[in-house]
Amino acid sequence: MTDTQALADKKILLGVTGGIAAYKAAELTRRLQDHGAEVRVVMTRGAQTFITPLTFQALSGNPVHTELLDPQAEAGMGHIELARWADLLLVVPASANFIAKVVHGFGDDLLTTLCLARRAPLAIAPAMNQAMWANPATQNNIIKARELGILQFGPGNGVQACGDVGQGRLMEVPDIVKSVLEHFKPSQSTADNKSAQLLAGKTVLLTAGPTREAIDPVRYISNHSSGKMGYALASAAAELGAKVILVSGPTNLSAPQGVECIRVSTALEMQAAVMAKISETDIFIGSAAVADYRPASVAEQKIKKTQDRDDMTIELVKNPDIIAGVAASNPKPFTVGFAAETNDVANYARGKLARKNLDMIIANDVSRSDIGFNADQNEVTVYWKGGEKPMPNLDKSVLAIELMQLVGARYLNHSS
Ligand code: C5P
Repeated sequence: MTDTQALADKKILLGVTGGIAAYKAAELTRRLQDHGAEVRVVMTRGAQTFITPLTFQALSGNPVHTELLDPQAEAGMGHIELARWADLLLVVPASANFIAKVVHGFGDDLLTTLCLARRAPLAIAPAMNQAMWANPATQNNIIKARELGILQFGPGNGVQACGDVGQGRLMEVPDIVKSVLEHFKPSQSTADNKSAQLLAGKTVLLTAGPTREAIDPVRYISNHSSGKMGYALASAAAELGAKVILVSGPTNLSAPQGVECIRVSTALEMQAAVMAKISETDIFIGSAAVADYRPASVAEQKIKKTQDRDDMTIELVKNPDIIAGVAASNPKPFTVGFAAETNDVANYARGKLARKNLDMIIANDVSRSDIGFNADQNEVTVYWKGGEKPMPNLDKSVLAIELMQLVGARYLNHSS
């Protein structure tokens, strides 16, 4: 099977809901077919106000399904049969209304009914106005969607059809195709997927999340790191066959399956946990946002407001650089760092690579609000001595697999 035919035996049921981005689903139909996928299309009533079923019928070469209770369609491929036919139910664009209905189990039209009756995974590519995306009701539904195991591609950030700028743009079609290809990768035969056990027999140690540096018993210094990228990398490393140890600062995330998770709070605790495991580590990845400084002393009691002064000073001392310590250990594991930069990303990242004696560094531009720290997407460039690789804007879980494959390949190359 060639790379371009990676979806040759895959049946994709493409759901199109109402939104201006519906026209992009037409292009997506073609691009999925380029990889050999068989595509059938289901349109909601809203979608049909933006683009006609005839367009999708011509592109997909199959009748387009629009009605739940259509005797003619049921006589052909009935809705239950259609739900069972699919290897993936992909909804592009997924409107706020559709997402709300699907996470609450509604089945009031053909597409939502198919979602209820499906056996295959469901993936959604949300697209909506930035205010609709940011609305707490939508955000709650997105959290619920994740809890239900619904895969999410995007949304991206940028100028919207209505003139607004912000989060909510449909993920670009090539990136959706890439995410679909990634989704099907693990289900390929092991013979096909040589990278499946790329890290078998290896131990990967990662740090993730923020650290918390106590000021007194109730206050601390910390940062906005969510830990999502580090957890996704830990999960990807486990999927590639590695034994994975994750040293995590405080996050809301649960440990990925098959990963040993050591929870810590401060930078000093993180350093101790890392150094205790370093002798058994083949690859170290420092994705934690470690606080550079901590209060010089922690007050035993809660610090009180003083009436006579409007200012207060907390003396800080430098925390150890955990990753530099790892890179200085003997034997040194293959060491990968992160560089979160706001400007001149390549120069600062390369500087850090050399100064900390790292083998690779994954750099991102944290001046952008749509990627990095708390976002679900990330767009990074990876640097190593004599090379670099820019990665597209991808969901962190998809990006993590790509990154672990790159790290794994460079590690094996370096140690052979
Ligand atoms: O120097 P800077 O904080 O930008 O470097 C970022 C990289 O160094 C990340 O990989 C981070 O996990 C690691 N780091 C660390 N210990 C610190 C500070 C950063 O391991 N005290």
